[in-house]
Amino acid sequence: MLTYTQAENLLRKYEQTHVLKFWNELNDAERQHLLKQIEQIDFDNLSQLIELTRQQNTTVSREMEEAPIVRLADRVDKDAAMRRLGEEALRKGKVAAFLVAGGQGSRLGFDGPKGMYPVTPVKRKSLFQLHAEKIISRARRYDTVIPWYIMTSHSNHKQTVAFFRENRYFGLRPENVFFFRQEMLPAVDEQGKLILDRKDSVFMSPNGHGGALKAMWDSGAVKDMRHRGIEHIFYFQVDNVLTRICEPEYIGYHIAAGADMSNKVVHKAYSGEKMGVICSMEGKTALVEYSDMTDEQMQATDANGGLKYWAGSIAVHMIDVAFVEKETDHGFRLPYHVAHKQIPFVDEQGRVVQPRDKNGYKFETFVFDALNHARATMTLEVERSEEFSALKNGEGLDSPETARRDMNRLYARWLRQAGYPLPADDDGATDIEISPLFADEVQALMARQHEIPPFSTPFYLE
Ligand code: UTP
Repeated sequence: MLTYTQAENLLRKYEQTHVLKFWNELNDAERQHLLKQIEQIDFDNLSQLIELTRQQNTTVSREMEEAPIVRLADRVDKDAAMRRLGEEALRKGKVAAFLVAGGQGSRLGFDGPKGMYPVTPVKRKSLFQLHAEKIISRARRYDTVIPWYIMTSHSNHKQTVAFFRENRYFGLRPENVFFFRQEMLPAVDEQGKLILDRKDSVFMSPNGHGGALKAMWDSGAVKDMRHRGIEHIFYFQVDNVLTRICEPEYIGYHIAAGADMSNKVVHKAYSGEKMGVICSMEGKTALVEYSDMTDEQMQATDANGGLKYWAGSIAVHMIDVAFVEKETDHGFRLPYHVAHKQIPFVDEQGRVVQPRDKNGYKFETFVFDALNHARATMTLEVERSEEFSALKNGEGLDSPETARRDMNRLYARWLRQAGYPLPADDDGATDIEISPLFADEVQALMARQHEIPPFSTPFYLE
């Protein structure tokens, strides 16, 4: 651990000595806490990040072109073969599930990790339980183990792990669930100074979902995967209630393309929809965040008058273990992005202030930037109504209400496809829930048609 003098010298070198301004008021434990934090900060890296805040204009000036994408229409003839390929990889135990759940979920305004949010229409199962049951169901079908790697962050790790323990891992075997934390990075104010959010604490935030690759490596998760014979990682986010976890078709397309990293996309609902877009830049598949696109790029149309950049990413990736190794074993290679945010700070008297305006910068890495390093990639178009509905906000768009409506619609559609006589279509108003343990896809539901009881509301199948 650093001594006070060492910390002071280090901070002086980087013009950050204000971090010690309350030193004389701190007790021993608080002093230790602050020294430990200072020790953990990579100041050379921080100087480069501060430099980034001084560069303006992040909009993409490079030419965006259409990326090669396996369109829905192309899939009709290929899906069955791709499914068989994916099933073989699952059966041989080559596929792991990987969840990024380190975010702060600030827009949802839920007290606790977002994965604990009680989301399903009838049973109010948490997102974590919903995902767990999908994994159990998939693994059972192929008589295999699908290990689940879960990335948390310092701010939600303990609560997440405790939640799994209290719920007996939702039926998974604990030795097949692997938790690890992503790194934290300090934020800076508009003068490039570290921000104290307590007299003894520098404000830190998670290093973005791109930190997943580094954390997988640093935590030993990659080693564990190798030990188990895992070759392909199914990457997903905590808040998409319709994710088809470890879907064999997707795994098959990824393997057949010999891809290092693959993407799933849906057609954007409207030009201004806030989704990152898969395109091609300088001959490589890339994802451009909506916030980095100009208005012109957002509205651009193709020769047929359709949206030119239509391919919205749903942040579901396949990533090869060998690729993660390449990305991390010679040091972390993803670029940092700057986000202008409201960050709590202590004033001269040491009181905590929650600013009304943006007052500083946070730094994040994005997992999709790894696409730039991939030798080969594959992008698959999927049906939004079957695969994508994200829980982001407390109300309105992408809220608990829309997530439940989209689940209701999905389950009603599956029941109808299975020939089950549902009352008139009410477009997601009736609460219907099919546990992944009963059926995790429409084919599985069809196979169990005869077991479905008569309809009543709310309707739950397990
Ligand atoms: P979002 O970008 O939607 O952020 O994360 P968020 O933290 O969940 O929500 P807001 O923006 O504060 O409201 C998308 C996914 O990436 C994960 C999240 O947990 C979520 O699954 N994520 C995000 C991380 O794992 N680490 C991060 O540093 C950021």
